[in-house]
Amino acid sequence: MKTVRLHWKGKAEESVVICRKNALKFLGQTLQSSNTRAFVFTDTNVLSLYGKKIKRTLPDIPVFAMEAGEEHKNGETLFSLLSAMAKAELHRNSVLIALGGGVVGDVGGLAASLYMRGIDCIQVPTTLLAQVDSSVGGKTAIDFCGVKNLVGAFHQPVRVYVGPDFLKTLPMREIRCGLGEIVKHAALDKELFDELVSREVFDLEFLGEIVPKNIEIKAAVVRKDPQEKGLRRCLNLGHTTAHAIELNESTLSHGECVLLGILYESRIARTHVPCDKSYLDELEGLCRRVLSCDISSFDVPSFAQSSVLDKKNTGKGIKLVVPTFKGEYAEIELSLEEYTRELARIRGELC
Ligand code: NAD
Ligand code: GLY
Repeated sequence: MKTVRLHWKGKAEESVVICRKNALKFLGQTLQSSNTRAFVFTDTNVLSLYGKKIKRTLPDIPVFAMEAGEEHKNGETLFSLLSAMAKAELHRNSVLIALGGGVVGDVGGLAASLYMRGIDCIQVPTTLLAQVDSSVGGKTAIDFCGVKNLVGAFHQPVRVYVGPDFLKTLPMREIRCGLGEIVKHAALDKELFDELVSREVFDLEFLGEIVPKNIEIKAAVVRKDPQEKGLRRCLNLGHTTAHAIELNESTLSHGECVLLGILYESRIARTHVPCDKSYLDELEGLCRRVLSCDISSFDVPSFAQSSVLDKKNTGKGIKLVVPTFKGEYAEIELSLEEYTRELARIRGELC
């Protein structure tokens, strides 16, 4: 068992991340010894795989399942959940358990932040992506007006229960998706990078072992900058291009878009900032090893316009966090025209 504690700068409360086998059973035992009214929010896929286990380990707790998928990460789902919470008569001291992937975590976290102006949320991430990234750090959101995560809030979970057992039922595509954020962390952490380039990255046991390390990397950043005023922006490495791709290319998962985003932005780095080109070759090799698609088949330059409403932008330019040297990154800003030109140049190189 591994526990990571996140204390919030200037605040008494903390988030506790518990990584252990049988995480759900452990959560059930913890809830039984408290008087808290709980409510489980999940999705239809997780419910069909883990419904019986949820009933057994979290008995008598109401369960509400959203339709699975990013296309349901919207206001309609959010308000259906809030209605179900009201019908279950949750009160200020109740806790919402978001049990699922990043979509459930983001919508559930947002509902918890809104209901009665904020109730506790426990995250139980069931995808690799949610375990290494989205369940930790308190970002919650829904997609709105065609923009990813446009409406959201920072709402730190009181606890996160991370169980390696959940990874066993994940389709290969979802493993690849989680690897997108793992490669992003590796671009920020030399040790993880060296480990990834020398190991079989699709090995479930290896992935289970490196989940806590990934949480530590993210927690070290979020502890210092929970609300993304500065340092936390490094966690957006590759994400400007990734989000633009994700909005236009529904065949790709979030993690696959992140891998493509890192690949494109590492090439932008080569022409805009000092960098180690042989390291960037290795990083690009890692992205290609994880991605199974033909990367030249996506018309990424035509997606550039989608970056204009990206939350990372503050002025007229498009902001990017690009990899530079092993474990290092740089923030750059390009005009939309320059960014589009760069994406077109890179696509030409990749074809
Ligand atoms: P997801 O939640 O859609 O899950 C992917 C698929 O896996 C779904 O079909 C789901 O039903 C299924 N699934 C979940 N657990 C499973 C299991 N154990 N076995 C089999 N199938 C399972 O997607 P995701 O990749 O987990 O998360 C992506 C979302 O996370 C995006 O909306 C992204 O914006 C968000 N995100 C948020 C943050 C953050 O900091 N809040 C960070 C990164 C990504
Ligand atoms: N996934 C980026 C962040 O949590 O800041």
